[in-house]
Amino acid sequence: MDFTAKTLWITGASSGIGKAVAIELSSAKNVKLILSGRNEQALKVTEEVCKQNDCETLVLPFDLGEEASVEKAASYIRKNKIKIDALYQFGGISQRSFVAETPLEVDRKIFEVNYFGTIALTKHILPAMIENGGGQIAVTSSIVGKFGFPYRSSYSASKQALHGFFESLRAENTKNNIAVSIIIPGRIKTNISVNAIDKEGKTHAKMDAGQDSGMSAEKCARIICKKLKKEKKEILVGGTEVIMVHIRRFLPRLYYYMSSRVNPL
Ligand SMILES: NC(=O)c1ccc[n+]([C@@H]2O[C@H](COP(=O)([O-])OP(=O)(O)OC[C@H]3O[C@@H](n4cnc5c(N)ncnc54)[C@H](OP(=O)(O)O)[C@@H]3O)[C@@H](O)[C@H]2O)c1
Repeated sequence: MDFTAKTLWITGASSGIGKAVAIELSSAKNVKLILSGRNEQALKVTEEVCKQNDCETLVLPFDLGEEASVEKAASYIRKNKIKIDALYQFGGISQRSFVAETPLEVDRKIFEVNYFGTIALTKHILPAMIENGGGQIAVTSSIVGKFGFPYRSSYSASKQALHGFFESLRAENTKNNIAVSIIIPGRIKTNISVNAIDKEGKTHAKMDAGQDSGMSAEKCARIICKKLKKEKKEILVGGTEVIMVHIRRFLPRLYYYMSSRVNPL
């Protein structure tokens, strides 16, 4: 994907990785960015920074956890005949709670945002993208989308579900010139742990030590954008922790041992 003069819709643009990606992409020539998340004020802050690179922007807040809100945002795009060249999805919430103490409604909330909200938005824009001759769709999983991890049961499950959905979408639509990238971050220093929800569905409100020692969102964004440009199918990004993906695949018994002893914070 050559970003020049393209219209790129970025979810999760109010914070962390999505915000850093938006800022990174704003320097592409004649690019138009649609910035989404729930927090309109924070989106406007991202917009201000992007505008310093002379790019065109549209702030379009919506809630991934509310079907009607996703529909409203998508219908704004349809009604205004905005042609989306790429949809880059970073919106998501994490979890900090054990299976034994987590009520089902918390599991459902994580799935509503990370899985159903993301696939709903994708389904809204896919037909027009096919009709327009193609485009690019990226979705953000996690290294725990590749294996299970304590204190993250439904978060990990929601991210693993995205792999199944988006690999299927790719298989169905390669012929339609739709490129699909699955972004797989390790530990990136953002507010993801602060915004994660606990067993009561309340925010964890803590910067975990593991998160704090992660790669910067800016460095992560530079790597992601380079690989989005090359339309890489999987974009694994992070520090030494990403080796766990390879350990799970090639040395499963070592993974079983490590995952039952790891400090999940
Ligand atoms: N940081 C990491 O170590 C890490 C590792 C693996 C995967 N990831 C994934 O990377 C993505 C970005 O996370 P981040 O690290 O940048 O964390 P973050 O700073 O907490 O950003 C999360 C973004 O998702 C948006 N979001 C959350 N709930 C939403 C909802 N109901 N509706 C619409 N937007 C919503 C937030 O915007 P609003 O608050 O404005 O709604 C925010 O822009 C997530 O999908 C996360 O799972 C992160």
